[in-house]
Amino acid sequence: MTNLTADDRKRAAALKALDFIADGQIVGLGTGSTAAHFVKALGERVKAGLKITGVATSTAAEALAIEAGITLVGIDEVPHIDITVDGADEADRSFRLIKGGGAAHLREKIVAAASRRMIAILDDSKLVDALGRFPLPVEIVPFACKTTLRHIADAAVAAGCGGNFIRLRGGEAHPVITDNGNAIADLDCQSIPDPEALAAALSAIPGVVEHGLFLGLCSGLIIGTPSGVEVIEPAPHVPEA
Ligand code: 5RP
Repeated sequence: MTNLTADDRKRAAALKALDFIADGQIVGLGTGSTAAHFVKALGERVKAGLKITGVATSTAAEALAIEAGITLVGIDEVPHIDITVDGADEADRSFRLIKGGGAAHLREKIVAAASRRMIAILDDSKLVDALGRFPLPVEIVPFACKTTLRHIADAAVAAGCGGNFIRLRGGEAHPVITDNGNAIADLDCQSIPDPEALAAALSAIPGVVEHGLFLGLCSGLIIGTPSGVEVIEPAPHVPEA
């Protein structure tokens, strides 16, 4: 038995992600404590001579990258991003993620969608059989936010989710405001039987800016476990005979 803390396991996953980075790449830099380990370790590699350019997913990631000595460009200044490395709040073995625990999932999703590859780094407590134990973050516009919260809860019921308790992050008096000037709703579904159906239903609500379900965006999981790091990648495509 090892005595690795969750943070040790996050750091181990982050360090393993360095193996996926090559000289000359444009690298999307995620947000959160696991991604912070990655950004710091990448900064060390840059000091040792690695040549990469970063694209930050949040003002927090931007500040950290600058401190780590990583050259940054804005996403609109590059035609594509080679690879994005980001944390996650939950992942299943089909590479579906819940993100947004750090209120950054809108920019994280834009960066992931502009990337040729996104890999998620996480500790083993976040790997689940079915998504939904972690309350799903949903970025919403502040206008009519109570109405939007109601519509989100209704959408969750229609998509077959259990629980469906919803709250405004930070509460009405002091709502958390994102880098984009919006609020965050946290939707506690307990389990999400059909993430694709819930994602489509949430995207159809006018006050919803973006939800934290990352579907079809991630193609690799690097998981820190008590006995080492597990890398899960999609099975190679075998053409039919
Ligand atoms: C931020 C995120 C983070 O990647 C997610 O919350 C994981 O955070 P941490 O690595 O601190 O556990 O999605 O919006």
